[in-house]
Amino acid sequence: MITVTRIGKHLGAEISGVDLSQPLDDDTFAQVAKAFFDNEVVFFRNQKLTPAQQVAFTRRFGILEAHVRKESRLGGHDEIFVLSNKLDANGRAIGAQDAGRYWHSDLSYKRQPSMLSALYSIEVPVKDGVALGNTYFASTTAAYAALPDAMKQRLERMRNVHSYREYRLKNYAAQQDEERRGIRTVQEHAPTPEQLASVPDTEMEVVRTHPVTKRKGLFINEGHTSHLTGMSRAESDALLAELYAHITQPEFVYGHSWREGDLLMWDNIAVQHKATFDYDPLPRLMYRTTVRGPAVV
Ligand SMILES: [Fe+2]
Repeated sequence: MITVTRIGKHLGAEISGVDLSQPLDDDTFAQVAKAFFDNEVVFFRNQKLTPAQQVAFTRRFGILEAHVRKESRLGGHDEIFVLSNKLDANGRAIGAQDAGRYWHSDLSYKRQPSMLSALYSIEVPVKDGVALGNTYFASTTAAYAALPDAMKQRLERMRNVHSYREYRLKNYAAQQDEERRGIRTVQEHAPTPEQLASVPDTEMEVVRTHPVTKRKGLFINEGHTSHLTGMSRAESDALLAELYAHITQPEFVYGHSWREGDLLMWDNIAVQHKATFDYDPLPRLMYRTTVRGPAVV
């Protein structure tokens, strides 16, 4: 018996009554998928999943991506991207620790950006009884719906460029700055020239219609959008800053406080998300799977 409990005003729901370690029958899967698209972010508590079970469940939604950062993939499971601040026996990071510094949508810089991401929490840092490392999600569909009509019409004609290269260089510079200031303990790999060259910049529409729900949303984000086309960089920066502030207002945001055994999925076409780095050096370990979405226009 599946129960769906809405948490946030515009997004976020808990689904209970489902054991994701078992294959779901078609009817149960259809209910889960409907709840997912309706609520944009859903989570299941108290799951016990092997990597293979996580892969099998998320594969029901489509083709899984292997992340461009090979060093952060789980050994034996290329589809699992490891998010962690833990180190291996040689003192090397076992996963990506910096993912989610900026508001972003996963793999939005690809020609076929991610449709959904699923994050399974294995180790959650807790201090004084409070879980750290919350993840925040903002509904770009709710944010779009709340815009004045004149702004909606203006944005309908606009396009933006998503650049993995600019994102990685910006992110790495921020990391190095933190290391210099002594507020960071994990040394991560610098992006390699091959990685930077492997994902070309992609230009796409600003207002994107969701392929399933048909809701319109804003497909721009602080992490990956380098600029709006057809205007100066200064004009673009100013308009983007205004739109980012609009999207991330509290009424459009759901913040997730993690527990071990959570499987949380979000719709990368409808929401953007941001991590919180308030727990280092307490260990955190999460496995992510990512389902490829349709091509951008
Ligand atoms: Fe992310």
